[in-house]
Amino acid sequence: MKKPIVVIDGPSGAGKSTVGKLLAKDIGYLYIDTGAMYRAIGLKAVREGLQLKESDALRGLCARTEVRLVQDSGGFKVYLDDEDVSEAIRTPEMGMAASAVSAQPCVRERLLQLQRNLGEGGGVVLEGRDIGTVVFPEAEVKFYLDANVEERARRRWKEFREKGIETDLRKTIEEVSKRDYDDSHREIAPLKRAADAVVVDSSGLSINEVVALMKEKVLEVAGN
Ligand code: DC
Repeated sequence: MKKPIVVIDGPSGAGKSTVGKLLAKDIGYLYIDTGAMYRAIGLKAVREGLQLKESDALRGLCARTEVRLVQDSGGFKVYLDDEDVSEAIRTPEMGMAASAVSAQPCVRERLLQLQRNLGEGGGVVLEGRDIGTVVFPEAEVKFYLDANVEERARRRWKEFREKGIETDLRKTIEEVSKRDYDDSHREIAPLKRAADAVVVDSSGLSINEVVALMKEKVLEVAGN
């Protein structure tokens, strides 16, 4: 029997990456962070000084750019062409750049195909914004992970500080709110809960509680 495709969509800072990685490891599935792909394209566009909106230049960039996620023992690495950009993409600026380029059709078309190729065999946990609505509307297990905006911003802010990136909490709340708004109001593939997604509010839950809840659901569908 084909293993299920597991989807975790939701806004920034809801905990998708943290729980997605743990869940995938626990059940032996491949973990695919689609936001990392948008971040890699955003990084290249910023480095090349491009406007982050639809243009011949951005379309050209997509056509000549390769993004790869390579699994390793500690999780996965993100390659932009042949460069390991796993660290470089994890800054507040790259979050904003990713959000901006992700609203452009040429970028979404390019990454949609890549995501479908990676996930179609099943046995995968994919996280993002439009996975359950656009990339894999037929996915067997769908979660929409949410938490209130203050808590999400506080988690992001803590992550930045742990990495030595100085930023204040108020600014992080503003950035997270702007990304929520932009990601859910863009024309193509906006952030939206799929009608058949299980909503999980992680506000008052520990990471382990969220993972356990998701695991139970996946095993129920996978039949073991
Ligand atoms: O999950 P993240 O913070 O790494 O995502 C960065 C941005 O990429 C996010 O603000 C919107 C965009 N994104 C998207 O449009 N569709 C996805 N499936 C994943 C991310």
